Amino acid sequence: MFAPGPVRGRISVPGDKSISHRALLLAAKNDAPTSILNLNPGLDVRATTGALRAIGANITGDAQHTIVRGGTLHSPRITIDCMNSGTTARLFMGLCAGAVLHAQLDGDASLRRRPMEPVSAQLRAFGAQITTSDGALPATICGASRVQTQNFILLAPSAQVKSALLLAGLYAQKPITISADHGSRDHTERMLRYWGSDVQFDGKIIRYEAGPLKTQDVHIPADLSSAAPFIVAAAITPGSDVCIPGVGLNPTRTGLLDALTQMGAHIEITNRLDRCGEPLGDLRVRHSALRSTNVGPELALRAIDEVLLLATACSCAHGTSTIRGIRALRGKESDRVDAVARILQATGIEVETAHDAITIGGGTPRATNAVVESRGDHRTAMAVAALACIAGPLRIDDDLPIVTSFPGFVSTLRGAQAAED
Ligand code: S3P
Repeated sequence: MFAPGPVRGRISVPGDKSISHRALLLAAKNDAPTSILNLNPGLDVRATTGALRAIGANITGDAQHTIVRGGTLHSPRITIDCMNSGTTARLFMGLCAGAVLHAQLDGDASLRRRPMEPVSAQLRAFGAQITTSDGALPATICGASRVQTQNFILLAPSAQVKSALLLAGLYAQKPITISADHGSRDHTERMLRYWGSDVQFDGKIIRYEAGPLKTQDVHIPADLSSAAPFIVAAAITPGSDVCIPGVGLNPTRTGLLDALTQMGAHIEITNRLDRCGEPLGDLRVRHSALRSTNVGPELALRAIDEVLLLATACSCAHGTSTIRGIRALRGKESDRVDAVARILQATGIEVETAHDAITIGGGTPRATNAVVESRGDHRTAMAVAALACIAGPLRIDDDLPIVTSFPGFVSTLRGAQAAED
């Protein structure tokens, strides 16, 4: 059960999950030790740690300070368990394709339902041999002993597929080009540059000239996606005022902040800086009245993991909002277009869903006795928690999936709700 009430005070959220996967996967390439500060402590990133240990990387320490010693990698002797993590599965396939490793990959029931064909098709063009189970996990990959295509057109607007190709290029030490990226998150490109690689993007084509990586320590910013439930809870709940320090503000990820600002939210950003190739800053969010919005595909892509929360904010706005260009949400940890409807209808809000769009009638969400199903999706559970802040107590069948990205979420939320003015 998530309780109502404003959120207040200084809130600390874990390190960015996307950047954490990439830091580990790139560090595994180097013999020299890499220090990673503020790694995401969730289960998804642990799946990547486990996969890399299985191919010979030595990873020690804890989330605050992790040390990776990579170098000579070998094919795993066990099936790689990607657990619930699509990023682990897809990026690790890219590494195997380039490093000429032979691996079997599997995941939990939810990951076994997620599409692995786009990434497989592109890595087959690179030269890898891949068999999937009807386009999904379990899958077997045999790396590319002879690289075929080095020029790719992205089949899906997916940062995971793009990053799999970049990792294949990195490990095979082959230059590659990638076109038709429509602005998906660019953490891999930034980290490669930070580690001395030549990655150019002219707005149309990414050109990546693989070469040796220089070892650099990485300090990971706080995860905007983990900050998002608190940002939205504060924006919609009277009496709220939160500060979340050191949050990653990569422009390919800030769609939620842009949409909320258009809606009239009070968001202040201070102490902006660039660190290890990524921009970050401190966020302060206070409650204010919100107006409706129309979000198109470009902004939706930059808020791809925050659409449930954006829809939650729209449910409290004055007027009807639409969010378009969200077909990819149907293939996430659960079908998140359906999840929006399940969550908001549990508070009496009118929602219409189409294949790749949602229309939300703004109003006053009020908790009912409905129990919202999380369907194994951490983002659904956290969106319900944010909505409960304004709507009244909301029940969810299972909040365990939150451990995939934010193990301390429930206690952090309770602390923010207990904080004094
Ligand atoms: C991610 C990319 C996005 C996002 C996912 C993490 C990444 O997926 O939804 O949670 O780390 O590259 P797609 O690239 O498949 O859209």
